[in-house]
Amino acid sequence: MARHLITSAIPYINGIKHLGNLVGSQLPADLFARYCRARGHEVLFLCATDEHGTPAELAAAKAGQPVAEYCAEMHTVQAEIARGFRLSFDHFGRSSSSQNHRLTQHFAKRLHDQGLIREVSETQMYSPTDGRYLPDRYIEGTCPNCGYDSARGDQCDNCTKQLDPVDLINPRSVISGATDLEMRVTKHLYLCQSQMKDELEKWIDSKTGWPVLTTSIAKKWLNDGDGLQDRGITRDLDWGIPVKRGDEDWPGMEGKVFYVWFDAPIEYIACAQEWVDAGKGTDWERWWRTDKGAEDVRYTQFMGKDNVPFHTLSFPATILGSREPWKLVDYIKSFNYLNYDGGQFSTSRGRGVFMDQALEILPADYWRWWLLSHAPESSDSEFTWENFQASVNKDLADVLGNFVSRVTKFCRSKFGETVPSGATYGAQETALIARLTSRIRDYEGHMEAMEVRKSAAALRAIWVEGNEYLQEVAPWSTFKQDPERAAMQTRLALNLIRLYAVLSSPFIPDAAAAMLAAMQTNDDNWPDEASAALEILAPGHAFSVPEVLFSKITDEAREDWQTRFSGIRG
Ligand code: 2FM
Ligand code: ZN
Repeated sequence: MARHLITSAIPYINGIKHLGNLVGSQLPADLFARYCRARGHEVLFLCATDEHGTPAELAAAKAGQPVAEYCAEMHTVQAEIARGFRLSFDHFGRSSSSQNHRLTQHFAKRLHDQGLIREVSETQMYSPTDGRYLPDRYIEGTCPNCGYDSARGDQCDNCTKQLDPVDLINPRSVISGATDLEMRVTKHLYLCQSQMKDELEKWIDSKTGWPVLTTSIAKKWLNDGDGLQDRGITRDLDWGIPVKRGDEDWPGMEGKVFYVWFDAPIEYIACAQEWVDAGKGTDWERWWRTDKGAEDVRYTQFMGKDNVPFHTLSFPATILGSREPWKLVDYIKSFNYLNYDGGQFSTSRGRGVFMDQALEILPADYWRWWLLSHAPESSDSEFTWENFQASVNKDLADVLGNFVSRVTKFCRSKFGETVPSGATYGAQETALIARLTSRIRDYEGHMEAMEVRKSAAALRAIWVEGNEYLQEVAPWSTFKQDPERAAMQTRLALNLIRLYAVLSSPFIPDAAAAMLAAMQTNDDNWPDEASAALEILAPGHAFSVPEVLFSKITDEAREDWQTRFSGIRG
């Protein structure tokens, strides 16, 4: 039995995430966590909300709420939706937790003590009216490039030019509209990543089996232009983790907080502490400290490609630079983007299907199956309603659902609601078992390699084997001349339903549970041998005919959703 620490990139707190966010981190992480558990491994699966930074402050202001209150509410909303999608986190934490405050300040002290933090003086816009420095996004003005009058301090939304707040004509505060802005000199802390370049490069070079997407992004940042740059890790914001060295004040840093990207990944560790403090676990160090038992943990991170630089460079620089025995990631599984119907999903513009809306129209398993079987692994992929309808109707309703329904109904009508006895396997059954054995090994191989699409295809192929067997042996015909053989074929098919439930549960946990319930068994052991797994439901064992597992999506429903989600979320 191995021990797997699994984290998903932690979603920003500002608003409900769309399906593209879900498939880029939380959902594949859940697939892997469920698979590892099913194989009998010990798993700690963590995720949290990423609660700091300007977007959180701005979203709270827009909602007319104090930011702490807004974050607490949105955390509950996101946790509820995560449950709806059956994301099986052992803990869903918060980057604003007291545990993360302490740990982030601890890392800052360690990095400072190692000489890896330097102070940099910068000029920044100050608003005397608001009594604070304004981050770039808090400043608006006229774009010097196109004349658009609501360009933001970091970028003009009209002509997309990247801007510096000093470039804006007639700059004003987004908070108060004040125009009496002035440039002031302020000090910030920088993490000296450049000093750690060789160490980071060596570490990344040692990861020969990582996905190309992960290593190519890491290498690009390591070697771009002048090489790895030092990064500012503090900001002039009210909301965030106050800049301290451990529990001591940091002279000159009063009123400043750590940059959200400094504290967010540290939450992966703090989340394990929260898990213990919430009474769900007993020992977080066993997972995170290599001097306390974590040396035999296998740590896998899941994330979208935009997160890769922070996880391959900045966070490892924090961990390594502390010179403490923290667990480093063993494998980073990164994803490309999922697009939506000819364009991009967009949180700011509300384009696409959002997680809450998805669950309002269909159960989680429908989405889980489509998203995972179309995960944007080797390139970006695209959600279209036609493709979604086709996959659900073919894979889930026709291939899997129909198999379960035909077998259970046929058995009930000819033999009653218990597993029938009679006859022994013949050549067709032996051949089927051989094919299943090899297909199950394929499936396991892909799941272990975290090849999500290939895993889905391998699972589907296992479902197809059942249908083809049924077509081939046709127990409804056999029954007329040889009821005993028909009983054996039906018995095998009922056992296949149980086996399918076990194998499918990482992808479609609710349907899998319904299948096990219909087979009236709790035996969800992963099959060592297909032959033994197909004998578990013995003659005389009771079962029931389940409700329809998957309903087909009609053209009418598809068109209706297509129209409903074509515009902008209100
Ligand atoms: O891209 C995002 O959604 C970020 N909130 C991910 C943070 S992951 C980590 F570093 F915590
Ligand atoms: Zn412009």
